[in-house]
Amino acid sequence: MTQNAENFASAVAAAHPELLQRLHAAVGDAGLVLDPEAQAPYLRDWLGKWQGRAPVVVRPRDTAQTAAVMAICHETHTPVVTQGGNTGMSGGATPDGSGAQLVLSTARMNTIREVDPLNNSLTVEAGVLLAQVHAAAAEAGRFFPLSLGSEGSCTIGGNLATNAGGIAVLRYGNMRDLVLGVEAVLPDGRVWHGLRALRKDNTGYDLRHLFIGSEGTLGVITAAVLKLYPQPTARATAWVGAGDIQSLVSLQAQLRSRCGERLVAFEMMSQASLALVLKHVTATRAPLQGEHAYHALVELADTRAEGLPDLLEQSLGAALEEGLVQDVAICASTAQAHALWKLREGISQAQVRAGKAVKHDIALPISAIAGFVADADAALRALLPGVRIVNFGHLGDGNLHYNVLLPLDTPYAEYAAHTATLNREVHDRVHALGGSISAEHGIGQLRRDELPRYKSALEFELMMRIKQALDPNQIMNPGKLL
Ligand code: FAD
Ligand code: MLT
Ligand code: ZN
Repeated sequence: MTQNAENFASAVAAAHPELLQRLHAAVGDAGLVLDPEAQAPYLRDWLGKWQGRAPVVVRPRDTAQTAAVMAICHETHTPVVTQGGNTGMSGGATPDGSGAQLVLSTARMNTIREVDPLNNSLTVEAGVLLAQVHAAAAEAGRFFPLSLGSEGSCTIGGNLATNAGGIAVLRYGNMRDLVLGVEAVLPDGRVWHGLRALRKDNTGYDLRHLFIGSEGTLGVITAAVLKLYPQPTARATAWVGAGDIQSLVSLQAQLRSRCGERLVAFEMMSQASLALVLKHVTATRAPLQGEHAYHALVELADTRAEGLPDLLEQSLGAALEEGLVQDVAICASTAQAHALWKLREGISQAQVRAGKAVKHDIALPISAIAGFVADADAALRALLPGVRIVNFGHLGDGNLHYNVLLPLDTPYAEYAAHTATLNREVHDRVHALGGSISAEHGIGQLRRDELPRYKSALEFELMMRIKQALDPNQIMNPGKLL
C-alpha cells in the first residue's frame, strides 16, 4: 500500500469499524482499491456530470467473492453501487457525495465461461466487455448482435442492468431479448443461480427480467447466458438524404416491407448532428453533396450475399423516383461502410466537444415522430431563440436522442435552469403521445425526480414493492431509479 492509501485505509477503518478488515478477508489485497488516485475513475461518470465519494472500491474476482461482499454489506447496512464499464448516460454507476456508498466494480469478473455453438449460446461473467463477447461469438462462427458506440468499454452486466439498445434493435431486439439466463447475488449475499440456457421454460415468474433494466437496485448480476445468432456474411450499406423527417419515417416502413428481416439498421441524424461530427470528430467530407435536413444510415445484412446489393439499390431507387428521398450513396466497400458508421457513432463525442448538452432519450410510436419533432422544435425555438437542437437516433425503433446544445461556457445555474424547463417541454409532449422519457439509457439519477410525473401511481407502487421485497435494507444503489 502507498502512504496515501494507508492513511486513507486507516481513516476508512476508523469511520467504519471492522468493515475494511472484513472486506479484506473476503476479497484480499487485489480486490480493494483504497488509494484516492486509483479510486478517482470509479467516482466520476464519463460525461463529468456526476462526482461522488466512496469509503472503498471493491473488485471481487468471482461470484463467491461478490456473495461474501454482499453478505457483509447486508449485515452492516452498507449501501452498494455496482459499476461495470462506467459508460452509462444517467449517472447510475456513480456513488453520491455522502462518502458512505461502497463501489462494487465487476471489472475482474471477466471470464467467458462457455461457448455452445450447437445451443447457440454463450455464458459470460458480468465484467466481460461487449466487444469481447463479439469476438468470442465470431471465433465460434456465431454472432452476438447488441451493438453500441461504447462496446469497447461497456460490460455485459451494465448492458443487462440498463437493458441497453443501440443500433441493431430493429432486427434483434434490445438486451432483454438477447438473454436466456442470469446469475445474480441478492442484497443479502445469497446467489440466485438462474443461468439456464433454455429457449422455453414456463415454470412461473421469469425472474431474470426483474434484474434486466433494474440499474443495480435489486442485486448484482454476476453472469449471464446470451443468445447467439448466425453470423451475417454479407452487408449492404447506404446513406440517404431527405428533406424532412416524415420522409425517413415513410422510407423505413417501405424498407421493412421490402426487405423484411434483412433490414438490420435504420439510423437517423439531422443536418445539425452531421455537421457537429464533421467539425469536431472526423474531418472527412459529407457523404452526400448539398444540404439535406435529415440523413439516414441504412444497412441490410444476411447470411447469403445473393441479391442483397440489388435489393438495397432497387428499394432506394424506388424511393428516389417517388421523391421520398433527395439523394442516395450506396457503399462500394466495407471500408466505405465503416467510414459512414464512424460518422454516426461520433455524434456522442462531438456533442461533448461542442457544447453542454441537455439530453433526451425518448421513445415514441414511429407514426408520431414527425408531429412531435415539428411541435417540439417550434416550442423550443420560441423559448430559446437560436437554440441548437441535435436530433439523431434509432429511428427504426422510434427512439430519438432529441438533444439541446447550450454553449460550452453556460454557467452551471443557467444550465440547470434551462435543463429543468427543456425537460418539461420535451417530456410532457412525449408523455402526451404515449411515449417514454427513457428509451435505452435508463433512469439513474438523471431522470429519477421526473419519473413519478410520468409513471402511473400503480406502476410506481408495484416497483416499490418489488424493491422492498428484494432489498428490504435499501442498500442497492440508493438514490437511483426510485
Ligand atoms: P455502467 O455505466 O457501469 O452502469 C450502468 C448501470 O448499470 C448502473 O446503474 C450500475 O449500477 C448498473 N450495473 C452495472 N453493472 C451491473 C451489474 N453487474 N449488476 C447490477 N447492476 C449493474 N446505450 C444504449 O443503450 N444505446 C446506445 O446506443 C448507446 N451508445 C453509447 C455510446 C457511447 C459513446 C457511450 C459512452 C455510451 C453509450 N450508451 C448507449 C450508454 C452505455 O454504454 C450503456 O448504458 C451500457 O449498457 C452501460 O454499460 P456499463 O458496463 O458501462 O455500465
Ligand atoms: C447513441 O445512440 O449514439 C447514444 O445512445 C446517444 C447519446 O450519446 O446520447
Ligand atoms: Zn442511442
